[in-house]
Amino acid sequence: MTMKLTTDPSAATLLPIAKKEGISTVWDRHRAMQPQCGFGQLGVCCRICWKGPCRIDPFGDGPQRGICGADADTIVARNVIRMIAAGAAGHSEHGRHVALALQGVAEGRLPACQIRDEAKLRAVAAKLGLCTEGQDIPAIAAAVAKATLEDFQNQDHDAPCNWIEATLTKKRLERLQALHVVPHNIDAVITQIMGRTLVGCDADPVNLILGGIKGALADFDGMCLATELSDALFGTPSPVITAANLGVIKPDAVNIAVHGHNPLLSEVVCEVAGQMDEEARKAGAPAGINIVGICCTGNEVMVRHGIPLAANYLSQELALVTGAVDAMVVDVQCIMPSVSEIGACFHTAVITTMAENKIPGATHVDFKEETALENARRIVAAAIDAYKRRDPRRVNIPDFKQTAIVGFGVESVVGALATLNPEDPLQPLIENIANGNIRGIALFAGCNSTQVAQDSSFVTMAKKLAANNVLLLATGCGAGSFAKHGLMTQEATLEYAGDSLKAVLTAIGTSAGLNGPLPLVLHMGSCVDNSRAVQVAVAVADKLGVDLDQLPLVASAPEAMSEKAVAIGTWSVALGIPTHLGTMPQVTGSAKVTELLTQTAKDLLGGYFLVELDPNLAADKLLEVIEERRKGLGI
Ligand code: SF4
Ligand code: FE2
Repeated sequence: MTMKLTTDPSAATLLPIAKKEGISTVWDRHRAMQPQCGFGQLGVCCRICWKGPCRIDPFGDGPQRGICGADADTIVARNVIRMIAAGAAGHSEHGRHVALALQGVAEGRLPACQIRDEAKLRAVAAKLGLCTEGQDIPAIAAAVAKATLEDFQNQDHDAPCNWIEATLTKKRLERLQALHVVPHNIDAVITQIMGRTLVGCDADPVNLILGGIKGALADFDGMCLATELSDALFGTPSPVITAANLGVIKPDAVNIAVHGHNPLLSEVVCEVAGQMDEEARKAGAPAGINIVGICCTGNEVMVRHGIPLAANYLSQELALVTGAVDAMVVDVQCIMPSVSEIGACFHTAVITTMAENKIPGATHVDFKEETALENARRIVAAAIDAYKRRDPRRVNIPDFKQTAIVGFGVESVVGALATLNPEDPLQPLIENIANGNIRGIALFAGCNSTQVAQDSSFVTMAKKLAANNVLLLATGCGAGSFAKHGLMTQEATLEYAGDSLKAVLTAIGTSAGLNGPLPLVLHMGSCVDNSRAVQVAVAVADKLGVDLDQLPLVASAPEAMSEKAVAIGTWSVALGIPTHLGTMPQVTGSAKVTELLTQTAKDLLGGYFLVELDPNLAADKLLEVIEERRKGLGI
């Protein structure tokens, strides 16, 4: 039974314990929810006014229009672009938070933060076209923050957001501009989506979807700036060896799980935990303080500092069921509200930290950058306090953890390649793609969903693509899946990579001083770090003088569930990337919208959605797409 729900080996230990303790998990609630609403699954349920809810009969016998007159095409399009707006809001709010922190550092207002990577800050300034000659670091930081915050403030509709303009290929930007989908202001574009989807506004499905694409590109803009400014503030990732899965929780340490998406808080918690280690030992924890990550906050500190990852989205509750997490500190996004109740079954302090993200039953410590050190000390002290209440008889830490080599940002990928060709680092990658040693590149992103046995689609697809010599990149909970299942190791490369891919990864890894191949899947970071993969693709496309929709590059979200994944998938399509979904998108109640996203998009943008729930078939289809792209390039 367990294996149908999840393929994470930790679950086999912990789900029976949860059952015995009467704790309901995400899988229990999924089961209790069956059968799920068919109208909702098709996207034809509308709840945007109080004459409704209205639902369109998919079989054609009942109502074909809502009370206001909206048909299935309008309803589906409105619903899906509202999801995009929500996803874009989440990522760009995260980005704004980081940009404001950079501004605060520039003005000397935030003692807990500093510019850890000055070279990156200078590179970012150059990328944005800012003249920084003769300026000191605070002045450059101020200029970068100002140019970034313009992306939330610019009112000139014809002027693209600074980050998207600085990031894409020229051809891609022109193509998107011709469709009028390039955002000029992240906030304005999100607001426009909410406005145009009110009752009695935009009813044209094509126009709505184009508005959604613009919103998705605003999401992309927010991701780019979040990633790059985080690197300047907290350090640019470089390869580091760490571990993943619940076995990283230590029985003899004060365990603090950092969970959510925003690196601002977790960075300070990591620093303060180091300072308070002695207090933990005095409280009876011989191993001091052990920080572990969950979801993308976990990915952020994993790729930057080698902090081990305990869990990805679906197993966050199981981290608590170990009985050994003393504090779970959460910020924003993908935090199950159930964690406070499960934490209360044990001794765990579940601590929310963001004013706009609270959970009933959790303790709230209002995190502000200005008081970050003090806030973090309070959080760590609460963890040490909770540790004293831990009941060792209820501790069950599964004996599963895998080594993971992580931290492959653009700089480290280019750096590794530069060891082969210092003058022209991209050349070895391009040569190996051209000669077919690497057939193509696949970016795995997105969530876990209870619609799929946890991690199974990620792992199945990755093994098949790698065997067929496809280079694999990963972010977010996808990266978490691969890390937990041992696919971010050198051994995995030797075991699963096709011969020519193995030879290339071995040549690069050996030359870069790794004493063997690069890992099978390269961990690029959190969900916002999908922007890193785009940067690599843009660099390759620019060098070849082609656009992104010509590259043998595909994306896949085999276990997608969040509105953020809807936004990411849509900008991926808009950038010209064939994008696989392994869960059913809630749009199939409209033939028109389905056609727009899976077929018309191909003509307009070069990218398109490819829906395939079977991971084996999905891998086959992506391999076909890669070969089609290679043919187009004449390689
Ligand atoms: Fe029904 Fe139209 Fe109101 Fe939607 S907006 S709930 S379709 S009346
Ligand atoms: Fe994420």
